[in-house]
Amino acid sequence: MYCTRKITEGVTWIGGSDRRLALFENLFPIPRGVAYNSYLILDEATAVIDTVDSSISRQFFENISHTLNGRKLDYLIVNHMEPDHCANIDELLLRYPDMKIVGNAKTFTMISQFYGLDLEGRTVTVKEGDSLSLGKHRLSFYFAPMVHWPEVMVAYEETEKILFSADAFGSFGALNGNIFNDELDFDKDWLDDARRYYGNIVGKYGPQVQTALKKLSGLDIAVICPLHGPVWRCDLGYLLEKYDLWSRYEAEEKTVAILYASMYGDTENAANILAAKLAEAGVKSIALHDVSSTHVSDLIGEVFRCSHLVLAAPTYNNGIYPAMLNFLHDCKALNLQNRTIGLIENGTWGPVAGKQMKELLDGLKGMNVLEPVVTLKSALSDASLEQLDNLAGALAASLAE
Ligand code: FEO
Repeated sequence: MYCTRKITEGVTWIGGSDRRLALFENLFPIPRGVAYNSYLILDEATAVIDTVDSSISRQFFENISHTLNGRKLDYLIVNHMEPDHCANIDELLLRYPDMKIVGNAKTFTMISQFYGLDLEGRTVTVKEGDSLSLGKHRLSFYFAPMVHWPEVMVAYEETEKILFSADAFGSFGALNGNIFNDELDFDKDWLDDARRYYGNIVGKYGPQVQTALKKLSGLDIAVICPLHGPVWRCDLGYLLEKYDLWSRYEAEEKTVAILYASMYGDTENAANILAAKLAEAGVKSIALHDVSSTHVSDLIGEVFRCSHLVLAAPTYNNGIYPAMLNFLHDCKALNLQNRTIGLIENGTWGPVAGKQMKELLDGLKGMNVLEPVVTLKSALSDASLEQLDNLAGALAASLAE
């Protein structure tokens, strides 16, 4: 049975949610599920904006059929060719033989690569700034390459001022009936997942997001319809400001996240004591995460949130403890920048984790590593406790700047 919601009189949400999938992209845990949004415009012509993941195909086709109510489908707009949004193109072509696919040159190359479909006579290729009239509604297309694939474009409907934004402004999390941002508590229930989605999926492409934001800044936007997560119909400045911060690699909060690895509890002990010292110095909302039991995508989310990080790790195989090394490699892959960092290393003999963590951080832009690097020989001693005290002082002073 259909399950739809009206965005406006002429635009209907025809997406759905998957609460069974454990790992998005077979990589990122999504305990709150994920929504795949799709939209249908009814006018003199009809158009679907992107399809959905194959996991919710049945719901999608029931939604289309109900919304069309016997009418034919004229266009499928393909803003993004990742399979969580394009898995139903071939079936739509079969069900709606008059339907044409609207995309750009890269879109059609990817359709061919994924599906090898014969699209003779069924394509409309658009370039930057081209428009498509559906009657009262008129869609204009703007390219947003690498947000987060190269073929990505967004569609702006000028009559109702709706931006169909592809992956941009999306979030992990299933939609539970409330699909609009004013129907839910975004700060409490969604912001962490939206940040984690941005950081891990789009985070590498900050400069491209900045380019897209500048391009869109000239549009009068009343509603943002992303492919995942809530639809935004008020308070757009809040969301745009988050994207501006994240894509400039600026922290949302002036606070400390302590990310530690600990084999037998001694490095964890140092992390706890540092947190207490920071709290006594007046630092609030300190985060403390065990990198062995916290998924790296959550750690990346914390990097996007916090201005200061402390990385604490044992030396392992004459290198950095694997879970911490994995996190640092992810930071490099995602092009993370502009954080102030404290380091704690541990090693019963030959501690090298601190030096090697610093070398990796030196390869990232704008990472300011504070002195001293705290060295534990197996466990905290009077000498290393004094170093820890000095590191707490350096962090507190930096936070106060
Ligand atoms: Fe939700 Fe880049 O796909």
